[in-house]
Amino acid sequence: MTNHHTLLPVRVGGLDLPNRFAVAPMTRVSAAPDGTPTQEMAEYYERYAEGGFGLVITEGTYTDTVNSQGYLNQPGIVSATHVSAWREITGKVRAAGSRIVLQLMHAGALSQGNPYRADTVGPSAVRPRAEMLPEYGGSGSWPTPREMTGADIEAAIGGFVASAVRAREAGFDGVELHGANGYLLDQFLTDYTNRRADSYGGPVANRIRLTAEVVAAIRAELGAGFCVGVRLSQGKVNDFGHRWPGGAADARIIFAALAAAGATYLHIASEGRDWIETARLDGGVTITSLARQVSGLPVIANGGMHDLSQAAQVLSGGHADLLSIGRGALANPDLPRRVSRSLPLETYDRRILEPMATLSNARQRLQGMRRLRHPA
Ligand SMILES: Cc1cc2nc3c(=O)[nH]c(=O)nc-3n(C[C@H](O)[C@H](O)[C@H](O)COP(=O)(O)O)c2cc1C
Repeated sequence: MTNHHTLLPVRVGGLDLPNRFAVAPMTRVSAAPDGTPTQEMAEYYERYAEGGFGLVITEGTYTDTVNSQGYLNQPGIVSATHVSAWREITGKVRAAGSRIVLQLMHAGALSQGNPYRADTVGPSAVRPRAEMLPEYGGSGSWPTPREMTGADIEAAIGGFVASAVRAREAGFDGVELHGANGYLLDQFLTDYTNRRADSYGGPVANRIRLTAEVVAAIRAELGAGFCVGVRLSQGKVNDFGHRWPGGAADARIIFAALAAAGATYLHIASEGRDWIETARLDGGVTITSLARQVSGLPVIANGGMHDLSQAAQVLSGGHADLLSIGRGALANPDLPRRVSRSLPLETYDRRILEPMATLSNARQRLQGMRRLRHPA
């Protein structure tokens, strides 16, 4: 048994966690066509809890039957059927000793598969950069979204709130708003996708308004005790190199607005890059330590945290309270158990997500790789 810093218990926003390891949200496009989570997904999430992860954050889950869905076979939280299927998953995860938070996601202009609507919406009619994501079934350029009206914005907020209520019914310990990686909330925050002239556009204090309003609306509906985290990132799935134009000054305004709105924790994603490459803001401060300092909230750091020396440095240096692990968890669903027993980690092989990021594809790929390593 090692005494690695990552194995120390922590209390985050009312949740007592046995260690500092969280499973990062990962879209697996493996739900039924109507968005109902499957038995295969239940087993997938249970495996992380059995492997010792203190917290499981689910894949991005759509929030309404209008424009929120991003991918075909993405799970939803918009019906009683969804609630009862998720309840089975939360029951398994909690029975294995972990806590579980549902990531709520509105794809906005980055929607590439939505049975409810053919069009897409966004803060402004700006065609998204780059191309759709093949691992989630997309190809070619994105359509130009329709600019959201005030009524569209109200409906989107209503979808987040109703979904948070359903998440509590389904047994989740909390929700995390997907404000990262280029999806709707991040489209509002980003200067080049938000050209609005109303109170949601212009300076960064206005561009973070929608996310803050969603936090406050969920808080008002569900009370002080319910966990409402927010995930943010500078980079995006369709623009890895993006950085907040005002650097640390923007970051301060963003973190303060979310804390004032009643967020429980902040989760800083490092889309496609390691934390070490993306964490430094101007002045040398790390984005995660600035988030802790300005907001006074617990902060989750992300990006290559399966490198355990980086993980220990981030925690012991006061840069974050928790670490979320994506690719390292795909390769090692039992990563915390391995760390506690000083066992080596498997290396992540990106072919498990090719050609699609589905659970069944990964299973077949892994079986094939094992056969190559240990031929019968
Ligand atoms: C297959 C896959 C799906 C992902 N889906 C989501 C998602 O639904 N929501 C989200 O916020 N981030 C998503 N991400 C980003 C991860 O949460 C994480 O930020 C990224 O993999 C970097 O962390 P890592 O270095 O530990 O892998 C996804 C990443 C992968 C590999």
